[in-house]
Amino acid sequence: MAAQATANPRILLLVTGGIAAYKSCFLARLLMQAGFSVKVAMTEAATRFVTPMTFQVLTGHPVATDLWGERQSDALDHVEYARWADLVVIAPATADIMAKAAHGIADEIVSTMLLAFPGPVLMAPAMNDNMWRHLATVANLEILTSRGVHFVGPGSGWLACGTVDEGRMSEPEEILTAVRKLADGLPAAAMSADDAATASGFWAGKRVLVTAGPTHEPIDPVRYVANRSSGTMGYALASAAIGAGAAVTLISGPVVLTPPRGLAGFRAVETAADMAAAVGEAQDDGIDWLIMSAAVADFKPVNFAPGKLKKDVLGDGWSLALTRNPDILGEVVPTHPHDGLRVVGFALETDDMVGRASVKREAKGMDYILANDPTAAGSGFGSENHQVTLIGGDGIIWESASLPKEVLAGEILQQLAQADQKTGE
Ligand code: CTP
Repeated sequence: MAAQATANPRILLLVTGGIAAYKSCFLARLLMQAGFSVKVAMTEAATRFVTPMTFQVLTGHPVATDLWGERQSDALDHVEYARWADLVVIAPATADIMAKAAHGIADEIVSTMLLAFPGPVLMAPAMNDNMWRHLATVANLEILTSRGVHFVGPGSGWLACGTVDEGRMSEPEEILTAVRKLADGLPAAAMSADDAATASGFWAGKRVLVTAGPTHEPIDPVRYVANRSSGTMGYALASAAIGAGAAVTLISGPVVLTPPRGLAGFRAVETAADMAAAVGEAQDDGIDWLIMSAAVADFKPVNFAPGKLKKDVLGDGWSLALTRNPDILGEVVPTHPHDGLRVVGFALETDDMVGRASVKREAKGMDYILANDPTAAGSGFGSENHQVTLIGGDGIIWESASLPKEVLAGEILQQLAQADQKTGE
């Protein structure tokens, strides 16, 4: 069982009214990718810059926007989120919220939650340079610092008022780094008890191999057989696993994505044969989990023409002879066996999704399979969102909502962790 001490802290992200609120959407996404659970509350002014729906979709939780449940939010208990959280991050933190926090004013949802929260607070100020230097703000900063409130930024740069000066909110990556530092310093007892199988504890130190993207099977030097996989799901899974503390190797077919930071290894491959060889080598080096999200081409051209095939030679019609590629999961993975390896595959099915995916899981020796119907609403190629059904030896384990792939990746890892811990009990 995952111990309470290994749970990742829960973060209450408080968003106040500044143009930098849009950057907090990226921050929410980064925090989720890093394996944190995130809930959001916004001031009314913040909702003028970014809609609560954006944060709701990103975090998968309702967003608290007022004390009385009269506007977009449900009538949430106004301190419920404050009780839930282990860490509060205020980004952007306006001069106004700093003043309220310094003087104990609780007159709307964000300041109320803040006053009701006894734990560590990180503020990312964002305001006009004169407001930042105003003696009132300086005094409030002093009060807050003396009470142990943590600050990240502000930095210098272009401000919304058109000047280049101090007052710009730190970039989401910098805020994430500050959050990580604070989270590392939290005593285990302060961490949340439920979500015990949160991805972080389970995945920490695990060697995870992720494959992503399509493979290209060359016909001649300028043509190839391929499919429409973009690689985003695999890259999101690799990124989420890094955030959860795993040592991640990514083997990628040709995609236009930038590999996530913090990978333990990266291999760019072109064909199914290249990918098969790279997976075998990684297995020999030692891995704990294989997440096979690549859309490996099942067939390749029988012959590769070393010179470009000209259409006057090909004639009016052209039949391309194809032959089977190696099945990496079915044929390559079993030839590099080692104890304790967990294998996760994907299935794309348009008919009898669960039945066919279950048969595929069994046939290819996978522990878990993530099935997806590309024709279903809120899923499929090119769609921002994705929906999956996780299936194990005993049938359906979990059906996800239709979520942005980055958010879904974190949830998949959490579900896999929970499922695997149950199996091991
Ligand atoms: N896969 C693989 N090697 C291949 C083809 C697929 O390892 N040559 C993996 C994929 O990465 C995925 C799983 O097998 O995790 C299922 O792939 P899919 O193409 O849906 O299954 P197939 O068995 O090829 O069946 P079909 O295309 O007929 O649905």
